[in-house]
Amino acid sequence: MVAHRLVVASLLIFCLAGSCNGEVQFSSLKRTLDVTASPKPGQVLEGGVDKITVTWALNKSLPAGTDSAYKTIKVKLCYAPISQKDRAWRKTEDKLSRDKTCQHKLVSKPYDASNKTVQRFEWLIERDVPKATYFVRAYAYDSNDVELAYGQTTDPNKTTNLFQIDAISGRHASLDICSVCFSVFSVVSLFFFFFLEKRKAKAYSSKN
Ligand SMILES: *[C@@H]1O[C@H](CO)[C@@H](O)[C@H](O)[C@H]1NC(C)=O
Ligand SMILES: *[C@@H]1O[C@H](CO)[C@@H](O)[C@H](O)[C@H]1NC(C)=O
Ligand SMILES: *[C@@H]1O[C@H](CO)[C@@H](O)[C@H](O)[C@H]1NC(C)=O
Repeated sequence: MVAHRLVVASLLIFCLAGSCNGEVQFSSLKRTLDVTASPKPGQVLEGGVDKITVTWALNKSLPAGTDSAYKTIKVKLCYAPISQKDRAWRKTEDKLSRDKTCQHKLVSKPYDASNKTVQRFEWLIERDVPKATYFVRAYAYDSNDVELAYGQTTDPNKTTNLFQIDAISGRHASLDICSVCFSVFSVVSLFFFFFLEKRKAKAYSSKN
């Protein structure tokens, strides 16, 4: 009975501390995963054309059993602070349920604690990924899909090793050039006909 109460009480405290399902805080997660991504710092990649190769593995300097509860790894593309400025819809929140830093999932893979080999995934950048500066982060989840740990390609301040994705592909760019040409053409022809009309009107009035 006492033990039962103790469990309930500690669960309650656990919840109040904001650690319940969906209330996990990023600052409470340990950085246990070593994550790499193929883009070089400052590289500009093109959506729909370029690929990103990501790797992840448990940091080998951690004590054995660190990953005993890991069930899934999800790798995500995350906005760098420079691309979050004045954009509330990309805001970083410590409460992970409200965090909007990492909106594009690259891959979700089951975690095999018996296999410490570096895991690898190649991702073709989707066309709907907005033009911005990014880094890559991986989260480790338990069997209830609750975040337990993470790893990322940048430093804690998210200033190093960032890369850019340029959403406008070659085809889109030429389409844009086309539409600009057409707008210029229509404006020019508008003026042309306007002056033509004016000249006609002038000629008409001087005749009379
Ligand atoms: C692994 O963890 C150690 C200790 O926290 C850290 O010094 C090291 O940089 C980490 N390794 C990598 C590749 O991030
Ligand atoms: C360990 O993971 C690597 C990379 O995904 C895979 O190629 C290999 O077959 C795995 N080994 C075992 C024993 O599952
Ligand atoms: C992160 O930024 C803060 C404030 O600018 C600075 O004090 C701290 O040293 C930085 N940490 C790292 C790891 O660069």
